[in-house]
Amino acid sequence: MSLSKSGVKRIGVLTAGGDCPGLNAVVRAVTKTAIFDYGMEVIGFKDGFYGVVMNLIRRLDVEDVSGILTAGGTILGTSNRHDPFNFLIEKNGKVIKKDYSGRAIQNLKKHGIDALVCIGGDGTLHITKKMQGEGVNVVGVPKTIDNDVSETDYTFGFDTAVQTATEAIDKIHDTAMSHHRVMIVEVMGRYVGWLALYAGVASGGDVILIPEIPYDANKVCDTLKRRSRRGKRFSIIVAAEGAVPVGGKFIIGGIDKTSPEPIRLGGIGRFLSGQLREKTALEMRVTVLGHIQRGGTPTAFDRALATRFGAAATQAVADGDFGKVVCLKGTEIVRVPIEKTIGELKKVPLDHQLIKAARSVGTDFGD
Ligand code: F6P
Repeated sequence: MSLSKSGVKRIGVLTAGGDCPGLNAVVRAVTKTAIFDYGMEVIGFKDGFYGVVMNLIRRLDVEDVSGILTAGGTILGTSNRHDPFNFLIEKNGKVIKKDYSGRAIQNLKKHGIDALVCIGGDGTLHITKKMQGEGVNVVGVPKTIDNDVSETDYTFGFDTAVQTATEAIDKIHDTAMSHHRVMIVEVMGRYVGWLALYAGVASGGDVILIPEIPYDANKVCDTLKRRSRRGKRFSIIVAAEGAVPVGGKFIIGGIDKTSPEPIRLGGIGRFLSGQLREKTALEMRVTVLGHIQRGGTPTAFDRALATRFGAAATQAVADGDFGKVVCLKGTEIVRVPIEKTIGELKKVPLDHQLIKAARSVGTDFGD
């Protein structure tokens, strides 16, 4: 066991925002590294920042995290509705926001938490930065199936979601071929197209639509007709939920006014099929993969990445290197100041090699 330079004795950990495969692997790595390498105590906060405000804790020992490496979800629970600085409460039949950050800080003090590891995506990292501003020693771990956190080549959870979506599209391929249909598959990925791009290429999608490349329905239609003329009697279109028509807007599936991120995307598949049906008599069906992409056992890649992230976050705590997010750059884990990771979402660059390779094998991006 090595000594923690920072003198941290008790570390807090929470998982916040939308869940993704690999959260448990990070919690396990944080807990085991803290206990085995530094003799720290570990306190888990339940349901993300909700648990910090509401004082919902569970002590984590080695036995508590044993056997969870392969489990989807999070043993700590999560919430993407609760920001201590804009905490939602019901008053007189109305939902209002209150600043409960003071309560959160008090609870951290009450439990003698010297440092807090926050595992989450862009929204969570924004809150983590604000907690740092209130004097809390924080370290962030980037998660999301969207792979949209800046400064890290990959977030954990993305690889598993790509695998899940690819397997689903493979199955849709079978039925598309049998029925000679155009199948539109809507995948997640709010405002970025990483998931659609990787799953689309991996499953041999004929058309891939991503938010970074606004699509022209006429071009998509030309591709479908060209395939028909070549004797290909089915086509697969993989559309990110955030795909946009040229000159158009995101398709909004709903508004959740009680969420810090009220806009829920969804519906591009149906919208696109409407557009295409006006231009072609080809038979079409729409599948929305939805939250199936967020569950399940993490892939080996995600288990390894999550373990590296969790261990590295705890090492940063032990070094007293606070206010950082552990990120993957190439093959190395590095520590990046939180503010650099939250300025902008990491979009797919238009000259990304996977886009180029996809175009080379005949994939259409609707442009
Ligand atoms: O950010 C992850 C993500 O799964 C997005 O791809 C999707 O748009 C969103 O979360 C869905 O959020 P919720 O589960 O809150 O509806």
